[in-house]
Amino acid sequence: MKIAVVGATGLVGTKMLQVLEERNFPITELLLVASEKSVGKEITFKGKAYKVISVEDAIKQKPDIAIFSAGGSTSLAQAPLFAAAGTTVIDNSSAWRMDPTKKLVVPEVNANVLTPEDKIIANPNCSTIQMVVALKPLHDRYKIKRVVVSTYQSVTGTGVKAVDQLMNERAGIDGPMAYPYKIDLNVLPHIDVFTENGYTKEEMKMVKETNKIMGDDSIRVTATTVRIPVMGGHSESVNIEFENDFDLAEVRDILSKAPGVVVTDDVANLKYPMPLDAHDKDEVFVGRIRRDESQPNTLNCWIVSDNLRKGAATNAVQIAEYLVANHLVGQPVEA
Ligand SMILES: NC(=O)c1ccc[n+]([C@@H]2O[C@H](COP(=O)([O-])OP(=O)(O)OC[C@H]3O[C@@H](n4cnc5c(N)ncnc54)[C@H](OP(=O)(O)O)[C@@H]3O)[C@@H](O)[C@H]2O)c1
Repeated sequence: MKIAVVGATGLVGTKMLQVLEERNFPITELLLVASEKSVGKEITFKGKAYKVISVEDAIKQKPDIAIFSAGGSTSLAQAPLFAAAGTTVIDNSSAWRMDPTKKLVVPEVNANVLTPEDKIIANPNCSTIQMVVALKPLHDRYKIKRVVVSTYQSVTGTGVKAVDQLMNERAGIDGPMAYPYKIDLNVLPHIDVFTENGYTKEEMKMVKETNKIMGDDSIRVTATTVRIPVMGGHSESVNIEFENDFDLAEVRDILSKAPGVVVTDDVANLKYPMPLDAHDKDEVFVGRIRRDESQPNTLNCWIVSDNLRKGAATNAVQIAEYLVANHLVGQPVEA
């Protein structure tokens, strides 16, 4: 496979290269792409130095797959040009996620929707990905009616500039701000821009993307998304109301057998998921599994995952692996 990584110098792009290398993805040719300011810069992959090229140069080389993590406006402008050249684009931005003609995919949940005609495939929002990986097996067994989620999100979700802001604040250096306020020793109940209904765009992404990935608009979701001064991954407090009653031991059993999920739930020994432990791991960790005693058929749990891994790079590479394994890439484009 001839692979292009667009946004190769960014936080997600760097993680993407690490994941492609670790999983030994079958790459015959690698194109590393970033903005004009990075063209010519060298990046090492599997011990070999590669020069960063421009988007235009990459399109001319007609890669089989282009994995984008270069922001929404770059995706909107450039993904269709790659697609027209026959490349299958897997896009990490929010640009295509709610487009009804584009698939929004978390392989453990809905990879089966993919076809060779899908030339632009959307990778969901990081906080949604980790939640649906845990929700899907429970929905299949007990049917989810409603989800109430509050997130505790890592600064790595905002990119290089936000990590620099946190590190600068810790070192007492005045630098550029990724957030409207100080993030160290603080909590911001604000991720992405505010929308007319008083929610943020991140919160509405969790609502709409969950319905689309699960293929079930009857699941009601409400979210509060919060940025905290943490690096290893996103954490979520999730309250799930089911149609049917459940047995807690069976819930733990279902989750422990679910693909991509690790149950870390042993409070007697103070074992529960934390971003420090999830950092640089591919799995979604679920713990604090307990009954909501305030109403029937309702469960509380705590879900943690590395937003740069399963929330972005790993999920995109898993989509690419599925495309290759199922011969869905490298097909000729229709005129
Ligand atoms: N961080 C996360 O947890 C996360 C999770 C899921 C999705 N995402 C999405 O992934 C994307 C990247 O996020 P990030 O955190 O990696 O951001 P980042 O660290 O700021 O990196 C942005 C990357 O995009 C490149 N880029 C910017 N403008 C470009 C252009 N016009 N043409 C080509 N490349 C361009 C940058 O290249 P230069 O270095 O040359 O500027 C850099 O490689 C965003 O859309 C974000 O929403 C992020």
